[in-house]
Amino acid sequence: MSERSGTLANDPFNGRHPTSHERLTGLPWDRSYHDGPPPWDTGQPQPAIVRVASKGGFAGAVLDAGCGTGENALHVASLGLSVLGVDVAETALAIAREKARDRGIEVEFAVADAFQLVRWSRRFETVLDCGLFHTFDSDERTRYVASLASVTEHDGTLYVLCFSDHGPDTGPHPISREQLRAAFNSGTGWTITAIEPERVQTRYHDDGAPAWLATIKRI
Ligand SMILES: C[S@@+](CC[C@H](N)C(=O)[O-])C[C@H]1O[C@@H](n2cnc3c(N)ncnc32)[C@H](O)[C@@H]1O
Repeated sequence: MSERSGTLANDPFNGRHPTSHERLTGLPWDRSYHDGPPPWDTGQPQPAIVRVASKGGFAGAVLDAGCGTGENALHVASLGLSVLGVDVAETALAIAREKARDRGIEVEFAVADAFQLVRWSRRFETVLDCGLFHTFDSDERTRYVASLASVTEHDGTLYVLCFSDHGPDTGPHPISREQLRAAFNSGTGWTITAIEPERVQTRYHDDGAPAWLATIKRI
């Protein structure tokens, strides 16, 4: 699963093409985790994801794309599901693995680029994206959605929890309902079953930021 072999020495992007977010900030994602928790890392699973899980929304093999330090993946795994969390930030994954060890939770964390999942033979019945989709520009979204489709079982479920454009106090990458519909539709292999207003907890919003929780089925 690791994509480290064959990468360039001292390349902070490990041979990857930097994402639009990384080009904007001039820093690899990994850097966000070097000096303590980044703004999105509250040290807890997102309440919206906990609610989905409590209603039985996760089933079968679960993929958490852009899992960060793993709170959502750890929560879902603690319910007895088989979970793989992937991220490009090795520092985040090291923290996630340490949490799993400390809490005695069985869960897999691996370095992987969410744009490159087409190479995989593994398939997932449930996929979670908490805060990754909204970091991509529209070209990246097209590639990402195709990559996710390649590893999601037909009739499988994808949950996207992203910042929404319905303010006040929107998060840094606000997404509209139209942008979700433009990315996930029958032409790209998906059908959206719900887009519900939610909150995403961050370290700098008292009551979270406005968000969408999109429930999306693979067709
Ligand atoms: C806003 S953070 C959210 C992290 C985590 N899901 C959470 O809720 O705490 C976005 C995460 O996506 C990861 N990421 C960004 N681009 C990625 C890519 N192309 N493939 C895999 N992970 C990526 C970042 O390293 C970061 O950990």
